[in-house]
Amino acid sequence: MHQNMMEDIDHILLSKEELQAKVAEIGAQISKDYQGKNLLLLSVLRGSFIFMADLARAITVPLSVDFMSASSYGSSTKTSGAVKITKDIDIDIEGKDVIVVEDILDSGLTLSFLMGLLKAKKPASLHLCALLDKPERRKAEVNLTYKGFTVPDEFVVGYGLDYDEKYRNLPFIGVLKPEVYSK
Ligand code: XMP
Ligand code: MG
Repeated sequence: MHQNMMEDIDHILLSKEELQAKVAEIGAQISKDYQGKNLLLLSVLRGSFIFMADLARAITVPLSVDFMSASSYGSSTKTSGAVKITKDIDIDIEGKDVIVVEDILDSGLTLSFLMGLLKAKKPASLHLCALLDKPERRKAEVNLTYKGFTVPDEFVVGYGLDYDEKYRNLPFIGVLKPEVYSK
């Protein structure tokens, strides 16, 4: 990994400006849809932290925030869909209008499990907002109410997304050079 992370980037997929414009658009839509509601933004850590922070500021109706973290059991090549909650929510979501905020919807296995778990806690409503959608990789069906961009089946980093926990602080979303993985 170079000290200048730009040297590890093959190409930029979504610029800072494109991301900013999309977040403003989704924020305006949510502000319209959640007039008079009891909105709770629930961020799934860690990948969504930057999107969550920008999205919250693009919403004009009152809201509360909470955070949770999950990891899937087993190896990445043999996902069972069973998910371990490594950080649970702190706020009681019963009666709340919950939007789960994710960085990327990929296989959908983690999200479909999480949504089922949250639904059992009786929120007034439950929707999903994901900045990125990789539909080619879907294995479990998940309803995506607020979607940023559809992306091709390439591993992406930046704007919260990582490779080996790095690159989250890049202000754009990009694809790494192949040699970064082979090292
Ligand atoms: P599912 O259950 O939909 O989980 O497969 C999605 C999670 O997988 C991770 N993911 C990625 N992370 N770049 C990343 O940095 C990617 O291209 C990528 N694709 C999937 C991510 O943690 C997401 O929450
Ligand atoms: Mg990750």
